[in-house]
Amino acid sequence: MKKGQVCLTGIKPTGTPHIGNYVGAIKPALDLVDRASTALYFIADYHALTAIQDPAQLDQLIYEVAATWLALGLDPSRVVFYRQSDVPEVFELAWILSCLTAKGLMNRAHAYKAAVMKNREEGVPDDDAGVNMGLYSYPILMAADILLFNADTVPVGSDQVQHLEIARDIAQHFNHTFGDTLTLPAYQIKEDVAAIPGLDGRKMSKGYGNTIPLFGPPDQLRKLIFRYVTDSSSPADPKDPDKSALFLIYREFASAEQTEAMRARYAAGIGWGEVKDALFQTLDAFLSTPRKRYQELLANRGEIDALLAQGSAKARALAAPTIERVRRAVGVRGV
Ligand code: ADP
Ligand code: TRP
Repeated sequence: MKKGQVCLTGIKPTGTPHIGNYVGAIKPALDLVDRASTALYFIADYHALTAIQDPAQLDQLIYEVAATWLALGLDPSRVVFYRQSDVPEVFELAWILSCLTAKGLMNRAHAYKAAVMKNREEGVPDDDAGVNMGLYSYPILMAADILLFNADTVPVGSDQVQHLEIARDIAQHFNHTFGDTLTLPAYQIKEDVAAIPGLDGRKMSKGYGNTIPLFGPPDQLRKLIFRYVTDSSSPADPKDPDKSALFLIYREFASAEQTEAMRARYAAGIGWGEVKDALFQTLDAFLSTPRKRYQELLANRGEIDALLAQGSAKARALAAPTIERVRRAVGVRGV
């Protein structure tokens, strides 16, 4: 990202954050804050509603996700940190953009296409079974999130690239129809952060139930690390660190010297129990302060509410000129 740009990203509260989320999403986003003129990170709670329709669960996940980011170092005096649902201008813009978006564009969106494919594979006669309109028009709400703040750069995982392209298409179409009004966002794919493997060796993902949550108690962390599947080589056998899930995680949290030392120990032969113990010690040391902060925040939700309310007020102030420009451009506030 170039220095001095508006950087924005949304975080969907659909699961308890895990080690993979930290390495792949939270850390890279926090690293960008220094270079942005304005950084906006928000909890995309109405995006989550397309999938999570249990109110107690959604409420809990919103706080868990907010507490996670704050505990891991998001500084609310430097990042506009807010809940999407607190910024009604987002939804107004989403409607306006819906009126300009071809239905065919949404037919081609990945998440919708995947749902249709799943129905076909399972022999469900209705292609659209289980698809709500929120899922269908998800990319329009996401475009509104981005375009409302004139974001230049949107750091996302590669699965979100199509959504960014759709946001650009929609902005272009708006500008073509109503005159230059919206900024076209660029996306920044998080530099090749290796996918962090889960307990069973597949990518760590809440969908696979193979995660290490960031803020479980130390004994749970230890137990989970010891559950990692390893091969049956004996301790004296040399091992390839680059093929070891445990090493891939270790190097994300250890210093450069510790990582090199561990590489050498793999080459010389090391028992998996020892590797697991070293990984536990390193992760536990890294997480002990954030874990405390996370528990404090969750025990005091009023503190999270107050921070998010301040963030939302800042976000609304930033959104006001754009939405006013958009209203005028389309003609609902005079021409
Ligand atoms: P999950 O796969 O658990 O459902 P999400 O899709 O909600 O996770 O992930 C949010 C972000 O966290 C992703 O865009 C991605 O950047 C990052 N992420 C998730 N899992 C991993 C992983 N195993 N390794 C690296 N990054 C990951
Ligand atoms: N769709 C994103 C995801 O699934 C979350 C998101 C919602 C988002 N709005 C956004 C990301 C705006 C970047 C910008 O992870």
